[in-house]
Amino acid sequence: MKKITLTLLFALMAILGFAQNPAYKNANISDEARIADLLTRMTVEEKVGQLNQVNGGVLTGPSVANDPGAQGKVQLLKDGMVGSFLNVVGTEQTLATQKIAVEQTRLGIPLLFAFDVIHGYKTVFPIPLAEAASWDVAAAERSASIAAKEASSAGLHWTFAPMMDMSREPRWGRVMEGSGEDPYLQARFAEARVKGFQGNLDENHVLATVKHFAAYGAVEAGREYNTVDMSRYALWNYYMPSYKAAVDAGAATVMNSFNMFDGVPASGSDFLVNQTLRDKWGFKGMVVSDWASFGEMMLHGYSKDAEEAAIQSIMAGSDMDMESGVMRTTLVKSVKDGKVPMAVLDAAASRVLKLKFQLGLFDNPYKYHDAAKEKATLMSEDHMTEARTAAGNVMTLLENSEGLLPLSNPQNILVLGHLAESQEDVLDFWKGQGEHKHTVTILEGLKAKYPNSTIEFVQSVNRDGEMDPASVKFIKKAAKKADIIIGTIGLFGDLAGEARSLGDISPSDGQMKMLATAKATGKPLVVLVQAGRPMVITELVKNHKTVLYTWIAGTQHGHGVADVLSGDVNPSAKTVMTFPISVGQIPVYYNHYNGSRPHVDGNEGPAHFWVSRYRDIPNEPLYPFGYGLSYSSYDYSDLTLSKAAVNQNETVTVSVNVKNTSNVNGMEIVQLYIRDIVAQPLRPVKELKDFAKVAIKAGETKTVTFELPASKLSFFDANGDILLQKGAFKVFVGTNSRDVMEADLELK
Ligand code: NOJ
Repeated sequence: MKKITLTLLFALMAILGFAQNPAYKNANISDEARIADLLTRMTVEEKVGQLNQVNGGVLTGPSVANDPGAQGKVQLLKDGMVGSFLNVVGTEQTLATQKIAVEQTRLGIPLLFAFDVIHGYKTVFPIPLAEAASWDVAAAERSASIAAKEASSAGLHWTFAPMMDMSREPRWGRVMEGSGEDPYLQARFAEARVKGFQGNLDENHVLATVKHFAAYGAVEAGREYNTVDMSRYALWNYYMPSYKAAVDAGAATVMNSFNMFDGVPASGSDFLVNQTLRDKWGFKGMVVSDWASFGEMMLHGYSKDAEEAAIQSIMAGSDMDMESGVMRTTLVKSVKDGKVPMAVLDAAASRVLKLKFQLGLFDNPYKYHDAAKEKATLMSEDHMTEARTAAGNVMTLLENSEGLLPLSNPQNILVLGHLAESQEDVLDFWKGQGEHKHTVTILEGLKAKYPNSTIEFVQSVNRDGEMDPASVKFIKKAAKKADIIIGTIGLFGDLAGEARSLGDISPSDGQMKMLATAKATGKPLVVLVQAGRPMVITELVKNHKTVLYTWIAGTQHGHGVADVLSGDVNPSAKTVMTFPISVGQIPVYYNHYNGSRPHVDGNEGPAHFWVSRYRDIPNEPLYPFGYGLSYSSYDYSDLTLSKAAVNQNETVTVSVNVKNTSNVNGMEIVQLYIRDIVAQPLRPVKELKDFAKVAIKAGETKTVTFELPASKLSFFDANGDILLQKGAFKVFVGTNSRDVMEADLELK
């Protein structure tokens, strides 16, 4: 009623000639009133224009004279048919383009500039999966906030991150963008990243986007753009918590996913967008499609033409069309024909406009475009320091049984493998505006760390993992004087990210041969594995006893590696995705169900035949979730619960003593899991419910305490409603999801 009155009032004002000083330009009234006023002035075309997001690139300047594509986009903008550009970056381009929007369109509505700032804008941080392996939520908030500071200084308002797709699929190239296989841990990173990106939404921050809604991490067989098909029970318990946490943390926008859910493409899913996101979760923000995903509903075979695709998208609750153009080309007619109510269009356009008002763009459309600020902000010293610390903190030590690490003052180091010298291959597909020339390679990191040592390099294996047979003799020769050999293997950076699905995720034959040649020299060998996903390294660790998983650690990669190899940083990261023993085990994850015939590896014989097992490979993965070594070692003892039984409003205090039994100060990630023993529906064998990353000095014992409220014993039913069931639980605490102590707890 209030809205109708306001609308009528503004319409009247417009007719009576108040247009000279329109209310939507008045900063002293509420955003809602300004939006209502603006809507009365907009044509249907202009409203639809706000829903149109276009891939920009370079839109102004001399090159445009010979670029009809860019000219066409600028014309669209002048016609009021663009609400947002993606991929227009830098103050120069964004300012010039914003000027066109503000000064050369009928209503002067400013644009939103969006870009994929996934793990840094110019200063590139470790990939999100690696950052999650640090279990350092505060550091993730800081890196997101630095990324936001850099991006906003370069004219951007909006990032398409954080990606919160829970996944158990190392074949899927996009696991690098996520935070692994656990819903609880993911949710903590979701909150941190949303806070880091958005802050208080001033001009040092950017709008965040939770993506890809929903369940995109479950693409079948890890193949990009593939089908997703699962029960709603699995959806609510495994896949939804991280999106929900990001929404609750205030994420301004949500992105649809490419996949279908329950036979409906996510972009047109009333269940996902209207019923879940908007009605159940109360999300008030804007929903953007994924690249062309509205139009691709035709390719799915869900929409017969562009008109139907646009109607299905907007009626499902989605708002902005990234690049498919179906809204721009059909929606005006659909509204005029009454197939889409004007109120639905108004609501969608309002959600776009609201973001622009929230950012203050109507009052100062150029506040993000200060070239001097951009220059001072990008890759500032503080940012590089933080990125270096982050790089060290993500290195995951998988094997060190010969005690080779940390290196003890090596005089002659032999480094092998293309990945050690390549700046190109340290950054992945989602590198933002990060430049290869700014990355620190492993060789550079080692040279900086050991300025007085001799460091020799033999490439041996190229970018594609092929070994040069002639390199065998060079390795043998160079090894003679080496105290230590460092062999680098893995996947080059560009094999991480969108459209980078792989069927084979093991090291190449050439890489294995290079390592075998190095080992045969008898010199100590450290293997560094660089990849944006867990690889299958079973053969590797059978043969080599010192393995550091470096992930893809960003601009400061080489320094991060050298800091850990030298012992200046004591590794503390732990895997957030299970490492499979072979591709045949995938999906393999710690929070699986028990099943009726579980099998424990090693049990053989007739009694263990009709059980859930493979005949050729074990059930257990190579490394479980939460696994990682350190230069320190820890003993867990005295797991204690403050009470054996709780009612649903109570909290139990769980404590454990963790002793650093080594002579090195360290950081241990202490993990708390539960199991609901008997439940309807069934619950998994373990679920992470808390963790603490604690500094423990050499020889010191720390009592680590968790407050476990009974509410954490709850789960979701198939409708996404919370269930809390009485009965027996186990509480586990340990150093990873496999090696735990346990205690009993009852929920009364
Ligand atoms: C497609 C990707 O799926 C999405 O994550 C990304 O934000 C858009 N392209 C825009 O680049």
